[in-house]
Amino acid sequence: MISLNPARKRNTQRPLYNELTDYYEIIEERDWKREFNLINSIIQRNNCSRIIDLGCGSGYHVNEFAKKGLSALGLDISRNLISFARARAKAQKSGADYVVGNYYHFKSVRKFDAALCLNWSIPVKNQEIKKFLDNSNRLIRNGGLLIFDYERKSEIVHSDLNHMIIQQWETKGQKIARISVGDLKSSILRSQDVYVVFNGRASFKNSPVESRRYERVSENDGSIQTYIDHSFVRFFSRPEIREMAFRSKFKVKEIRRLPRTKYTREYVILEKFAEA
Ligand SMILES: C[S@@+](CC[C@H](N)C(=O)[O-])C[C@H]1O[C@@H](n2cnc3c(N)ncnc32)[C@H](O)[C@@H]1O
Repeated sequence: MISLNPARKRNTQRPLYNELTDYYEIIEERDWKREFNLINSIIQRNNCSRIIDLGCGSGYHVNEFAKKGLSALGLDISRNLISFARARAKAQKSGADYVVGNYYHFKSVRKFDAALCLNWSIPVKNQEIKKFLDNSNRLIRNGGLLIFDYERKSEIVHSDLNHMIIQQWETKGQKIARISVGDLKSSILRSQDVYVVFNGRASFKNSPVESRRYERVSENDGSIQTYIDHSFVRFFSRPEIREMAFRSKFKVKEIRRLPRTKYTREYVILEKFAEA
């Protein structure tokens, strides 16, 4: 059974990347294999053998690339996600490498053939996007690739905004539910989420004591835990992507699309300009 590590509770980062690390891959409802196959086909076609995943999360893609014999490094700011990724790579002897670090500042002497930044992980504000793209550019060789995904402005579903969206999952005897409400301002979507984790089967062995029937039960007592999470993502138009890329010395090579459970993601493949 997945156990929530109490030591993780003090972390100030968002719960989805910390206390809820063990659930990340099921909560992020997507066809992981299909997405990997898409990215892998681009990587193979462009003869990339040295890859970095910026904001690698649970490290799924890096682990899969390493299994295929590529040199793959995952970088993430979350220590818990990096621990999760390392533990899996070790168990599977994949040879994947992971490091805790910040994608705005990370440096490497040896350049990479390709950098990934997946699951709508690029920053939302122009200044930070520029910083992220400039640093990605420094990490990649001339002609190398940067691949990231986003959703298009033209596909915003306004009727979904400011409504509760309730989802639930079950994994290894645990149940988890998420209630989300999203709102939008200038193409930036803020999602406010509440997660409730029910740990295992509630054992109900003894008859209830009548005098304690209406007693208040303490929150997060181990059998049920709740977390409040919030996040921001930004929708883009294709001209905006082209312009942002150009300012950081990339050109758009290709755009691919993949459906998710509800919406379609675009994967943009940027190529670094050769330096004069
Ligand atoms: C939406 S998750 C995506 C994870 C993974 N790429 C995937 O495809 O599932 C965003 C990830 O970016 C990481 N992150 C956010 N800001 C970062 C930064 N400045 N440097 C490195 N990682 C960062 C988060 O910790 C989180 O793991």
